[in-house]
Amino acid sequence: MSLSGLIGFPVSHSLSPAIHEYWMEKYQIEGAYKLFTTPPARLRQTILHMRKKGVVGVNITVPHKQNVVEYLDGLDDQAMRIGAVNTILNKNGKFIGSNTDAYGFISNLQRSVSDLNPYLKKVVILGAGGATRAAIVGLQDIGSMHITLVNRTEATAKEMAAHFGVNFAPWGDRETVLNDASLLINTTSLGMTGKPSLELDINHLPTVAIVHDIVYAPLQTSLLRDAAQRGNIVVDGLGMLLFQAQKAFELWHGILPEVTDELRSIVLAKKDALSETIQPGKTA
Ligand code: ATR
Repeated sequence: MSLSGLIGFPVSHSLSPAIHEYWMEKYQIEGAYKLFTTPPARLRQTILHMRKKGVVGVNITVPHKQNVVEYLDGLDDQAMRIGAVNTILNKNGKFIGSNTDAYGFISNLQRSVSDLNPYLKKVVILGAGGATRAAIVGLQDIGSMHITLVNRTEATAKEMAAHFGVNFAPWGDRETVLNDASLLINTTSLGMTGKPSLELDINHLPTVAIVHDIVYAPLQTSLLRDAAQRGNIVVDGLGMLLFQAQKAFELWHGILPEVTDELRSIVLAKKDALSETIQPGKTA
């Protein structure tokens, strides 16, 4: 019986059990994916508990993605480069921190267009948070050379841009930088249910550009609606959640599970059922 799960605070809203349970059933893996509600002061005990239980691995979410590092035995390359852990793999008793968010982010984009290359010419990313770091690593891994970060707090964007060797622009320039952009990505929480809306006029953006919002609650953000109306290719954020889970499942169970339309429908139904509760709204 292989035990896995999610450690975070809060976690009761999570869609991850629905995803992993669907695959465990489909691939006949006897196991369970459990939610471990863990306030920051209890993180150490929860990790110890996971070791005692002999889990195959666990996912890590807010607010532990960075703090968990001190309780692990090592980090893989992705976790090191992103600077955060979203998945732990139990490798013969050693807890190794990994990060499948960059994979999830890129796989979601790749599913929407057969060839991403033409869209990597000039990438504009709104935001400079944890999700942005995963997006940058994913984009750089597939050869994106020209990335511009645009963030409300300029100092944060500047620091992140220097770290990853990308450009940054002031928040006030967020419309003019769209002029020759080929891919626009929102990694801020703006537009998420319960958050302020994203004030952005995308009329400067070429209509051949892809517009991707990593927010998935709501699934159709006003950014995506505006973009679709003018003919841009749009990519919503639910796929990132599904694909980061795909990679975690592979790490734990040795099978790369399929992200199917059926799975997407099941997760969307679950999301609607949970809509009364607070939801995270994006993979971060
Ligand atoms: P995550 O780790 O989920 O990516 P985060 O670190 O909380 O999330 O980052 C949220 C992002 O949304 C940040 O880029 C934040 O900008 P600041 O660095 O200026 O805080 C951005 N954001 C949140 N609220 C915003 C607002 N009202 N206007 C503009 N940007 C906002």
